[in-house]
Parts: sequence; structure tokens; C-alpha cells
Amino acid sequence: MDISSQKITLLSKMLLTPRVLWLRFQLSEPFCFQAGQFIKLEWDVNRQQVARSYSIASPPYQGMTSLSLVATLLANGIASTQFQHAQPGWQIWLKGPYGRLLLSKASECPPQLVLVATGTGIAPFYAMLPELEEYLKKGCQIELFFGVRNTEDLFFYYPFRMLAERFINFRFSVCFSRLQTTNLPHGHLGYVQDRLIVLDTHPSALVMLCGHPDMVDRCFSLFTKEKGLKASQIKREKYILNH
Ligand SMILES: Cc1cc2nc3c(=O)[nH]c(=O)nc-3n(C[C@H](O)[C@H](O)[C@H](O)COP(=O)(O)OP(=O)(O)OC[C@H]3O[C@@H](n4cnc5c(N)ncnc54)[C@H](O)[C@@H]3O)c2cc1C
Ligand SMILES: NC(=O)c1ccc[n+]([C@@H]2O[C@H](COP(=O)([O-])OP(=O)(O)OC[C@H]3O[C@@H](n4cnc5c(N)ncnc54)[C@H](OP(=O)(O)O)[C@@H]3O)[C@@H](O)[C@H]2O)c1
Repeated sequence: MDISSQKITLLSKMLLTPRVLWLRFQLSEPFCFQAGQFIKLEWDVNRQQVARSYSIASPPYQGMTSLSLVATLLANGIASTQFQHAQPGWQIWLKGPYGRLLLSKASECPPQLVLVATGTGIAPFYAMLPELEEYLKKGCQIELFFGVRNTEDLFFYYPFRMLAERFINFRFSVCFSRLQTTNLPHGHLGYVQDRLIVLDTHPSALVMLCGHPDMVDRCFSLFTKEKGLKASQIKREKYILNH
């Protein structure tokens, strides 16, 4: 897919949790991307250019005029501070799309798809929801593991819970790292790796990992060393801070 550049305008924003902001931008030109990809945003702060990457959290659609992303608000982070203060009408540059966290068409779906995310690393999988539904209709077994600190930090829960209610071949696990107990449907305690250890992995599974860099490294090692998957069966996107 060609990399293009265009000016985009903030349309609206909303806190999904106290630490996660959802932002919707108006496009000024047509933009082609696939669910799972990310963009680079660029703007100036005190005449210095700032560039930050964000996964696209909205699915592509025909005649698309806007796209959304979700950003974790880091204390004193340059982009985090800018996003908190930005008002509708704020204009910045978008470059992209980038990334290889892509699904093949449903007719070529693997027997098992394992999706693992921490925090805003869930964004690309949220953008994939229409494609995941097609995979499920084709009989693919999908396992989603989503790691967050606690219930207050949880977002995008209901769309995935609804999917689990509609398809028996979709399993959803929310992994709370900082809770001692939970009675939330699909809720578990610990890191995503703690659930992955007990997962029966199909030898032809496709795995997608997104979010905290250390989680991505640990899960990659778990799938390749302990579950016998090849590196080519694992797609990764690390949310590295200093880039
Ligand atoms: C391919 C890619 C996709 C990405 N997609 C997303 C996305 O969809 N959503 C998203 O929220 N982010 C995403 N990121 C991260 C994002 O690009 C920014 O790095 C992030 O938003 C922080 O930017 P900032 O300017 O607010 O912080 P910066 O000004 O860059 O400050 C970051 C600094 O904060 C400090 N820090 C504060 N809190 C922490 C913490 N909890 N852990 C570690 N260090 C901390 C560190 O010292 C670090 O150097 C992505 C990154 C990449 C590479
Ligand atoms: N080196 C880096 O570039 C770097 C380092 C840290 C974070 N980040 C990025 O910074 C943003 C904010 O990060 P955040 O830490 O504030 O929160 P976060 O990404 O929202 O964290 C989400 C969940 O991931 C868990 N987690 C942390 N380390 C993990 C690991 N090694 N394995 C499995 N799960 C793990 C957290 O648990 P606990 O917090 O309870 O341990 C929490 O439950 C994210 O985009 C993140 O990916 C980048």
C-alpha cells in the first residue's frame, strides 16, 4: 500500500478511561489502509517537529472521511499533553499507512487466530472487528487476550463481549494485572502470558501481538520456544516510546 501524506483535522475526542483518549480526525483526501496498520502524526511544538505513531482504531470503509485512534496519556508526554489540550479544528500531518499486522482474506483464514494486546495495543484488533466476524463465520477459532491494569483501565470491552456471545468459536480473556479478584465475565488475574501458557495452540495458528514491548518479546519467545510455532507465524507491533 502506498505511503501518502495529508493534513488532518481533529473532529472530536473523548476519554474512554482516565488514561485513554479516543481521537477522531477528519481526512482532507482519500486514504487507503488495512485494519491493523498504523499512521505517523506530525506537528510542531515550539518550532520543533514532533512525530508519533498510532494504530488506526477504526475499520476502513468505502468513502471514508474520518479515522480514529486511541492514545494512552503518559504523564508529561509531549503528544499526551498536546492531545489533552487539543480542540476540534486542530490540524496536523498524517503519514502512512505502515505496519504488517494484517489479516489475509477470510477464504484463506488460519484454523486458529491468537490475538494478544496490552493497553491501547487493542486498537488494531478493534479496527479488525468486521474482518474477525468474517473469519468466525468461516469457522476460524479466535482467541483474544487483552491485558489491562484494572477495571477502571478497561475499554472496548463490550464489542468483544458481544462477539463472544454470538460466536462459540470466539474466546475473549481480559487479564487484570493489578486486581486481586474479579467476577467480570471473561475476566482473569495476571498478565496475558499467564493465560497463554494454558492455551492449546494449533500447529498452523497465526499469532498477532501488539502493545507493550516487553509483553511482545515475552509472548514471541513463549510461542516459538514453548509452543513450537515458527517466527513466520507471529506478527508483531511494539509500541516503543522513544522512536
Ligand atoms: C508502531 C507504533 C504504534 C503505536 N501506537 C500507539 C497507539 O495506538 N496508542 C498509543 O497510546 N500509543 C501508541 N504508540 C506509542 C506512541 O507513539 C507514543 O510513543 C506515546 O503516545 C507516547 O508519546 P508522548 O509524546 O506522549 O510521550 P513522550 O514525550 O515520548 O514521553 C515518553 C516518555 O515518558 C516516560 N514514561 C512515562 N510513562 C511511562 C510508562 N508507563 N512506561 C514507560 N515510560 C513512561 C518515558 O521516560 C518515555 O521516554 C505506538 C508506537 C509505535 C512505535
Ligand atoms: N520501552 C518502551 O518503549 C515502553 C515501555 C513501557 C510502556 N510502553 C508503552 O507506553 C504506553 C503506556 O504503557 P503503560 O505501561 O503505562 O500501560 P499499558 O501499556 O496500558 O499497560 C497495559 C497492561 O500491560 C501490562 N504489562 C506491563 N508489562 C508487561 C509485560 N512485560 N508482560 C505483559 N503485560 C505487561 C501492564 O501491567 P502492569 O503495569 O500492572 O505491570 C498493564 O496491565 C503503551 O503504549 C506501552 O506499550 C513502552
